[in-house]
Amino acid sequence: MSRLIEKINRKSAKVSVIGLGYVGLPLAVEFARSGFAVTGIEVDNAKVKKLQKGQSYVDDVDPKELEDLIKKGQLQASTDFRLLNEMDTVSICVPTPLRKTKDPDISYILSVTREIKKYLHKDQLIVLESTTYPGTTDELVLPELEESGLKVGRDFFLAFSPERVDPGNKVYTTRNTPKIIGGVTPKCTQLAVALYQQAIEKVIPLSSTRSAEMVKLLENTFRAINIGLANEVAIICDRLGIDVWEVIEAAATKPFGFMPFYPGPGLGGHCIPIDPLYLSWKLKSLNYNARFIELASEINTSMPYHVVNKVTDALNRAKKSVNGSKILILGVAYKKDVNDVRESPALDILKILQEKGAQVSYSDPHVPELMLDTKPVTSVDISAYCHPTTSVRGQRQERTGRQNSLARYDCIIIVTDHSAFDYQAIVNEATLVVDTRNATRNVKSSLAKIIKL
Ligand SMILES: NC(=O)c1ccc[n+]([C@@H]2O[C@H](COP(=O)([O-])OP(=O)(O)OC[C@H]3O[C@@H](n4cnc5c(N)ncnc54)[C@H](O)[C@@H]3O)[C@@H](O)[C@H]2O)c1
Repeated sequence: MSRLIEKINRKSAKVSVIGLGYVGLPLAVEFARSGFAVTGIEVDNAKVKKLQKGQSYVDDVDPKELEDLIKKGQLQASTDFRLLNEMDTVSICVPTPLRKTKDPDISYILSVTREIKKYLHKDQLIVLESTTYPGTTDELVLPELEESGLKVGRDFFLAFSPERVDPGNKVYTTRNTPKIIGGVTPKCTQLAVALYQQAIEKVIPLSSTRSAEMVKLLENTFRAINIGLANEVAIICDRLGIDVWEVIEAAATKPFGFMPFYPGPGLGGHCIPIDPLYLSWKLKSLNYNARFIELASEINTSMPYHVVNKVTDALNRAKKSVNGSKILILGVAYKKDVNDVRESPALDILKILQEKGAQVSYSDPHVPELMLDTKPVTSVDISAYCHPTTSVRGQRQERTGRQNSLARYDCIIIVTDHSAFDYQAIVNEATLVVDTRNATRNVKSSLAKIIKL
């Protein structure tokens, strides 16, 4: 152990990250920036090829910095797990989705653990970062690794440290978001803390892997439930004819005891809609029904239907039906200013409207192409209605002619409030706008044209 600590402190430890996605790539870059030689192992050959050419595919990773790190040899990417033989530390950042039945799919963690077991050696530190239910590290990963004959806390070291990255957040990045760490043994915690504090500003050690696993689930469950409450309040305000946005903003002026959460078209991304269900699934196996989680999930998953009802009512008032209407969805990424469409409510809204016979298109400056039922669909170019100076993945967007006039759509739905969109220009041209994010709060227009959630 002391040998590994020394190597970490001297930054001569060979650091690796498995799974170079939204979480793993920024982490690998952060370790490399702090002076470690970093190896990223990724099964997707296309990603590895891009990285080898110094190209970034994650918005939060600065392409120039990545290119420099690759050129200097500070960061390398490969599909070859045999490289783990030479690695002193391994951080696992593979996906933890849900199965169709809404049960946790931990097959990625298991498959990576089996690979690591093949190359596990003395004085190696393994850290699981993928979000998962409490018990995964010590019930699943640990026994698998100890099948190698090596003993945790003596020969190798194992910890859980949840990734808390908020994609698109320019203030809180991998480096300045405090890192929670819980080891299987105190030595495991000590080593993982030693490693991460070299690259991350603040590291918080906990007593166990289970506590660390639970912290992440508490954080995301807190968000899912509060967003669920905001969504229910939106439905209540709708019935009462009250502007929910005005109510939340006013409540948020209270300097204590209230924290604003906002309604929207539904949850999206790889975390908030999924992680709480990891917890409720685990609790079911212990004969406990996590009711707050189930209820919030029910309300949040109903929101795309609420949006479609709003669209239907708005069209109806204009003596139009959904069937046959031309509808443009603005923003298909699950949140503002990112290119991630996983679990995005826009996909549900699009599908429900199509099933009702609408002709639906989308425009998203961050998502040029979308796979819908294995068919590629292209984003409608509305750069004429975008801010000319907005930088999307480092490229300057220029306004082009209004070849795609918004006036030809029966309804525009703002699903993702990207900063690139010029909401005043959009509202000026559109005949009807359903705004699910209060993106038009500062727009001057006849109120009848804008329908809010
Ligand atoms: N995206 C977020 O905002 C976020 C935030 C916090 C935590 N997390 C958690 O972090 C984990 C990773 O999420 P992500 O968003 O980076 O996912 P991602 O899909 O963007 O990245 C995962 C990467 O792992 C690769 N991979 C899959 N199987 C592999 C294997 N066997 N060996 C090597 N590579 C493999 C995939 O090809 C992919 O590139 C998940 O558990 C997620 O819940 C995500």
